[in-house]
Amino acid sequence: MCGIIGAIRSDGGVLNALIEGLRVVEYRGYDSAGVAVIDGGQILVRKKQGRLENLEKVLEDGALEQAPVGIGHTRWATHGEPSDRNSHPHQGAAGRVAIVHNGIFENYLELREQLTAQGITFVSETDSEVMAQLIDLELQEGISLENAVRRSLRRVEGYYALGAIAEGPDGAELVCARKGPPLLVASTPDAAYLASDVLGVIPHTDRVVYLEDGDVAILKPGSIQVTDFEGHPVQREVAKVDWTPGDTGLGGWPHYMLKEIHEQPDVLARTALDRIDLERGDVNIEGGQFSDEFLQGVSRVQVLACGTALHAGMIAKYLIEGLAKVPVDVDYASEFRYRGPILVPGTMALAISQSGETADTLGAARLAKELGASVAAICNVTGSTQMREADQVLLTHAGPEIGVASTKAFTAQVAAAVLLAVRMGRANGNLSVQEAKELLAGLRDLRTKMEHLLSEPVREHIRALAKVHARAKGFFFLGRGVNFPVALEGALKLKEISYMHAEGYAAGEMKHGPIALIDPGMTIVSINAPGHVADKVRSNIEQVKSRGGVALSVGSHEGSHKIAGQCIEVPETIEWLSPILNTIPLQLFSYYIADLRGCDIDKPRNLAKSVTVE
Ligand code: AGP
Repeated sequence: MCGIIGAIRSDGGVLNALIEGLRVVEYRGYDSAGVAVIDGGQILVRKKQGRLENLEKVLEDGALEQAPVGIGHTRWATHGEPSDRNSHPHQGAAGRVAIVHNGIFENYLELREQLTAQGITFVSETDSEVMAQLIDLELQEGISLENAVRRSLRRVEGYYALGAIAEGPDGAELVCARKGPPLLVASTPDAAYLASDVLGVIPHTDRVVYLEDGDVAILKPGSIQVTDFEGHPVQREVAKVDWTPGDTGLGGWPHYMLKEIHEQPDVLARTALDRIDLERGDVNIEGGQFSDEFLQGVSRVQVLACGTALHAGMIAKYLIEGLAKVPVDVDYASEFRYRGPILVPGTMALAISQSGETADTLGAARLAKELGASVAAICNVTGSTQMREADQVLLTHAGPEIGVASTKAFTAQVAAAVLLAVRMGRANGNLSVQEAKELLAGLRDLRTKMEHLLSEPVREHIRALAKVHARAKGFFFLGRGVNFPVALEGALKLKEISYMHAEGYAAGEMKHGPIALIDPGMTIVSINAPGHVADKVRSNIEQVKSRGGVALSVGSHEGSHKIAGQCIEVPETIEWLSPILNTIPLQLFSYYIADLRGCDIDKPRNLAKSVTVE
């Protein structure tokens, strides 16, 4: 989704902060970029379709370098194709204001007609330009930028993270407003910043204020005033960011995705180890959250998530039902919101989201709350909207995940789901101390097994297999039980970064139709672990092999490896924990295939890291 950055500095020279801020949020996915500054009372705008480098080329004349206030934007097109004129920032016809916007103004066409009838000429096809024109007209009344923004926002329907600059009576002004997509502000002694992503401000400070829906903030060097929609000052908590600028560096890796795949052993340790209590055979979650009292009131769990996070949620279903004996439903958040869900009393909605800003998951969790559910969240970003709206939060400590294809966040979510399932089973007495101790010890011991999977010999073996399969005409990823969602996740990884067709399927379902697709051009990746369905997966592999399919067995089930012929051996662990290990070879397999195919691995086409619009 769009990235927004803004800065005002007493000593001028904001351009570099704007460009660096846009560079750091590039990972969110975009198709154009632009900046606007005020210098000597004049608004100067530069914007270009394509990568940030295209924008930097038109900034080489240095004309914007000394400006003391400015805004920047990376656009992920929703209304109007990617082009220079549809890029942000947008200006009003009289050039009094420039704005950047993330979100959608749903009544923009009606407003566009009204303004056109008033003689305003639009230069873009975007909904966002309507806001620039509205503010521009308000400013001709001589009112302040903040009041012009408020008046204009009263006329639009929809949601926004908005930044605006204008030359006021007392000099250049920088104002922002939020309803829906994330927006935060931060100040230092001689500057103030706004950003859609905390990574945009961590080079300047580790203290930020996450704006709430309806907030309008006025930024001045060294100070920020936050008001509600009516203009009344409001107090907002100053949060400490536990990420550092170094966390976002590539550090010599060829791609963020490969770096983040290799961070997984440390991520597992940071997410799980401090919470494992082997002495008591239980899990300690900070702040006394997920207490016995709270969890004993949970009669059912409703998982809500999207994409990779949904796959983690599907694994959570197997874990919570298997270990805590609590029934679990799983819905795509985008489906849950509109299917008229029926929730029973005592339902706990479990929202799983790396970014904590996914619009569909936020909307689904809000609906579940309206329907009487309590809301728990497994999130990776402190201060994210999902985290702040949940009643109970289990934070993963994966650090910033820059690669669009989620890897370390996924295994961290699964580890968090193991912790939650154990906690629930101990709270309601359905999981014995002994069983809990075995699981938690198994979770603790995964780190060395993960490191083995990331070792040079294993990586080279997977890279060689990637070479063999990089030209397959299609893939099936098959799994059963707790490894069925791993099959879905493996297929998604391959699709996302290599653009090859891949389907994840319940292994037992192949004979009900999809097996018709099997031929020598198809590669079937089976994921298996010793357990009660292992032999069934092995016979599923036999079924596809006997029809000419090429099979690759991933996991720790020897029988499957023998039948498949090609395999990636995974160290054995408790079946419940096997998804965390089995996923890693699939991540590497997809990475190497995408690399062989010359794909843009960290910024795949059409994708955004955090989908903050519906
Ligand atoms: C994962 O590789 C994808 N980039 C995507 O499916 C992602 O998992 C999904 O958009 C959910 O994002 P979230 O975890 O931030 O809510």
